[in-house]
Amino acid sequence: MADNNNCIIVIFGASGDLTKRKLMPALYALYRQKLLPDSFAILGTSRSPYSDNAFRKKIREDIVTYAGLKKSDQKLLEPFSKHLYYQAFDATQLKHYDDLKNRLSDIDSKLKIGGNYIYYLSTSPSLYSSIAKNLGKKRLQNEDNGASWKRIIIEKPFGRDLESAQKLNADLQRIFDEDQIYRIDHYLGKETVQDIFALRFSNGIFEPLWNRNYVDHVEITAAESIGVENRGGYYDHYGAMRDMIQNHLLQVLGTIAIEPPSFFNATSVRNETVKVFQSIRPIKPEDVEKYAVQGQYIESKIRGKKVLGYRQEKDVAPDSRTATYAAVKLYIDNWRWGDVPFYIRTGKCLPTRVSEVVIHFKKTPHHLFSQAELAHATPNQLIIRIQPDEGILLKLGMKKPGAGFDIKEVGMDFRYSELTDAYIPEAYERLILDCILGDATTPWRPAGSS
Ligand code: BG6
Repeated sequence: MADNNNCIIVIFGASGDLTKRKLMPALYALYRQKLLPDSFAILGTSRSPYSDNAFRKKIREDIVTYAGLKKSDQKLLEPFSKHLYYQAFDATQLKHYDDLKNRLSDIDSKLKIGGNYIYYLSTSPSLYSSIAKNLGKKRLQNEDNGASWKRIIIEKPFGRDLESAQKLNADLQRIFDEDQIYRIDHYLGKETVQDIFALRFSNGIFEPLWNRNYVDHVEITAAESIGVENRGGYYDHYGAMRDMIQNHLLQVLGTIAIEPPSFFNATSVRNETVKVFQSIRPIKPEDVEKYAVQGQYIESKIRGKKVLGYRQEKDVAPDSRTATYAAVKLYIDNWRWGDVPFYIRTGKCLPTRVSEVVIHFKKTPHHLFSQAELAHATPNQLIIRIQPDEGILLKLGMKKPGAGFDIKEVGMDFRYSELTDAYIPEAYERLILDCILGDATTPWRPAGSS
């Protein structure tokens, strides 16, 4: 990798869930694939006190646990962890940014990084603005007239509503130039979500069917079997709608409903995605009950194992009314999708973990077969399995061999796991790498960024 990609990745919130579950396993995977720069460091910061060595040990253990690594895949953990550093840090204390600056400068000179830093905000969203402001006050966002670069990565929830989202945007743009800001949505980094583009636009057979004439309805589901785990404090303020629907699932809807862009680049894809969002029919407050439902999980048993109810979870208010399940019916008012309902739903602590898109095609216009013959058939479905068991399934009706003319449902199934070289990179690998490369051409930077 070219020298000007050498960088220090500063993770704010390094003792949190996202860091241990996703960021560190993704960084280690990039390291194993030799995709990280020749010279790099990862500087973890959070309020918890760790020495560099204690942090390295913790992260090695986390990676083994959360990446589910086989023994043979653990060989590079030791050398990888030598790139890790830690700085105890309170994001609200301006003086701590002086310590951060000194630490960055020490690591930078030791490893000859050249001043390139990525700031990954993996903290509570309430800290996003103040971290950006404080970095600005200490001139840690400066790019030295192009001699080095600084980038900031922010994830959802991007504010709570339009007003707070606009304020956050303005706060960031006061400090950073637009091309320094990476607003990422990890669903767009998923191989299977990216593949929706390939499925739609590298195959000629789907596009003629991909509209209101042939599609009856579309379901987009992200069901999780886990509860809120240690994230009750964050989750209780946001709930299913803000945690999953307004970001991840709307982005998936965007890839399903988008018009073919003229070019496969960030601007074209973003512009077409924005048109989809602008065409979503607003739901009037008095109609919400007709279009949306929400719920909360209660104490129960899943596969024989007792699970806590949401209100009993750590850091959740005992009388919380935050939804852990939400479903909404949307219409996209344009020529392609007029009157086709899109059902979007997500929930935690559900019996199965599955994220998928199901395109339900219309029934045949004329019934050649009797109801009895069709008893085991359904209209065609195209199922895009985002996770787990990633793949694509087309359901068709076929004649059951033998006497009579019974129609049976069969599947044409493609599974990523059946590819001989089936390594499916985690979403965060792609997103972190794009940021290191400064790849603004990727379409997977969500709408709003350029
Ligand atoms: C995160 C949400 O953005 O996505 C979590 O905050 C959720 O609540 C997670 O569990 C789901 O991601 P994935 O990749 O496991 O489907």
